[in-house]
Amino acid sequence: MVKNKILVTGGLGFIGSHTVVELQKEGFEVVIIDDLSNTSLEVLDGITAITKIKPEFVKLDLKEKEQVESFFESQKIDGVIHFAASKAVGESVQQPLKYYENNISSLVYLLEAMTKNKVAHLIFSSSCTVYGQADKLPITEDAPVKKAESPYGNTKQIGEEIINDVTKTEGLTAIALRYFNPIGAHESALIGELPLGVPQNLIPFVTQTAAGIREELSVFGNDYPTPDGTAVRDYIHVVDLARAHISALRRLLEGSNKSSMEYFNIGTGKGSSVLEVINTFQKVNQKEVKYKIVDRREGDITAAYADTGLANQELGWKAELGLEEALTSAWKWQLKQL
Ligand code: UD1
Repeated sequence: MVKNKILVTGGLGFIGSHTVVELQKEGFEVVIIDDLSNTSLEVLDGITAITKIKPEFVKLDLKEKEQVESFFESQKIDGVIHFAASKAVGESVQQPLKYYENNISSLVYLLEAMTKNKVAHLIFSSSCTVYGQADKLPITEDAPVKKAESPYGNTKQIGEEIINDVTKTEGLTAIALRYFNPIGAHESALIGELPLGVPQNLIPFVTQTAAGIREELSVFGNDYPTPDGTAVRDYIHVVDLARAHISALRRLLEGSNKSSMEYFNIGTGKGSSVLEVINTFQKVNQKEVKYKIVDRREGDITAAYADTGLANQELGWKAELGLEEALTSAWKWQLKQL
């Protein structure tokens, strides 16, 4: 049987690398493109060590339109999972054009090359950030998309719209996966999250504090209208999230999608507060995390967690790992970095 060949853009990044592993485990042939702007080639060794299959890798910047076109002309690709994008919210406020160029221009070039070369299936890395502070919890896919808080968030909304427009004209079918908060690492600790500089996201800050790299974690606000006053998020294990991409891809390859563009929330359905995360981390890893309460962080919302009913039903996918497993794997990964 000929294997389907899947292009994973940004395949050496955090979610991309875990998705490549799951694709290979499921028997797909993978080609990765990555510009290495926020990762390193060592990730390729990590993937290979886990699956014993070295994926094809091409160093390519999606902003290089002509190179993207010749790449597609030289390959026979059955589907694309598109992760390559910049993702730092704060930086996007400082450098909006970098975000519009990296996340939007490159998407346009990718879609051009795909449609020209009749590559018909796309999975897009979207975010629950499109909902802002939703009026109703848990959040369903029909909750309104709210005005983005940052250029980064805006690129996810615009990205979804661009893809939706293209699916109406070009024979493209697409699924946008709206991730809640991806955390954790592969159980082998051979791949994981590699934040550059001071981490902005909660879990890398927690693990670095536990490791003594950071002195103290700042908990941003304890006056939210939540049970313990700290903000609530839906933390999803990156391996579960990676598996959701395989389910979505199969849906498109089999043609069981119900419209040319579909949207699914990918989370656990369970909300956890910042203090719950800290306490769970301390319990499962038997490691103290020093923290202090500080003011709220600008732009943060009170609470977000997913209604995962649609993904359960339509993708046949469901998160299998919980916060404890995710925080255990995150700590194991952190220890490997020391
Ligand atoms: C952030 C982004 C979001 C992006 C997501 C990707 C912001 C405002 N939002 O979501 O657009 O899609 O990452 O993963 O940056 N916290 C602390 N102390 C810290 C760090 C975080 O208390 O040092 C708290 C935050 O206030 C929040 C929770 O931990 O309540 C999770 O924060 P984070 O991991 O940054 O994710 P989000 O803010 O949910």
